[in-house]
Amino acid sequence: MHSITKAAQVRNLAAMLVALGLLATTPAGALAAGQTAALDARLQTIEQDPAAMQSLVQAGRNQTDTFCVYCHGSGGNSVNPDIPNLAEQNPAYLLAQMRQFADGQRKDEYVGVMQKLARTFTPHEEVTIALYFSSMPLTRRPTTDTGLALKGAPIFAQHCAACHGGSGMGRGEYPRIAGQQPKYVIRTLKNFRKDAASRPSVVMSSATASLKDTDIQALAAYVAGLPVKAQSYFVRYPHPNFPGDN
Ligand code: HEC
Ligand code: HEC
Repeated sequence: MHSITKAAQVRNLAAMLVALGLLATTPAGALAAGQTAALDARLQTIEQDPAAMQSLVQAGRNQTDTFCVYCHGSGGNSVNPDIPNLAEQNPAYLLAQMRQFADGQRKDEYVGVMQKLARTFTPHEEVTIALYFSSMPLTRRPTTDTGLALKGAPIFAQHCAACHGGSGMGRGEYPRIAGQQPKYVIRTLKNFRKDAASRPSVVMSSATASLKDTDIQALAAYVAGLPVKAQSYFVRYPHPNFPGDN
């Protein structure tokens, strides 16, 4: 059991956000559609420049150290099984999700805070945050139920590998699900399956439509245990760790 209850966490956090003036509703970071391509181009440029990368990653750390760690854990390694790891996640995916929270397409109904937080980021801050978390190593917490995980393997191969890669690493805006928190994965897959308004995704709704609850549990156990391969900061573009992955 966790020492801090969810309600207490949310209360403390709300107080912290008010103190920081972050519950203001001005959409500072919401991106217009045309800005997306410019940002993507920027990511690509930064990739070629290690010094720029270093300073952006540091800026991302400064940006997130105070309160993101509160829920997503140190370096984006969440210790709350209901809250996703951000460590080593594909940066383009992180960026896309922050945009979706900011423009209201995705809603965090679990603690109700992400959409408010995301609206406070400027596009520059979004980039630094995405770079920082993607550069942090993921601590994997494989399930102890290896029997359940084994049941997930063939379901994963049949329904998921085509998009998330044979080793669950995803690519670009396709998330890495290898090593993701199993409880979060279960909740998320059930939401996709029922086509929840809080996170619309045509591809994920159809990928999960035929899954039973027991399939979802097995899948979550399987992906949590997938080894996270060493990778560069960027898996958005063709990448040496990816041969034959799909
Ligand atoms: C009060 C807890 C809390 C805090 C603080 C918090 N988050 Fe989150 N975050 C969540 C939860 C819960 C989700 C999953 C929401 C859902 O179920 O869709 C989430 C999801 C995300 C996601 C999407 C991850 C994915 O795998 O799809 C990103 C990116 C993210 N948060 C970034 C941040 C950043 C950056 C900060 C700090 C500025 C932050 N979060 C602070 C609770 C929090
Ligand atoms: C046709 C491509 C496709 C297939 C097949 C697919 N996915 Fe996805 N998946 C995606 C995309 C794209 C997203 C990001 C959706 C969004 O923007 O919210 C996603 C998101 C997810 C997420 C959310 C990750 C996070 O951190 O919040 C999980 C978990 C997931 N998929 C698991 C699976 C599993 C398990 C399967 C097999 C049953 C599967 N996916 C099949 C494309 C696919």
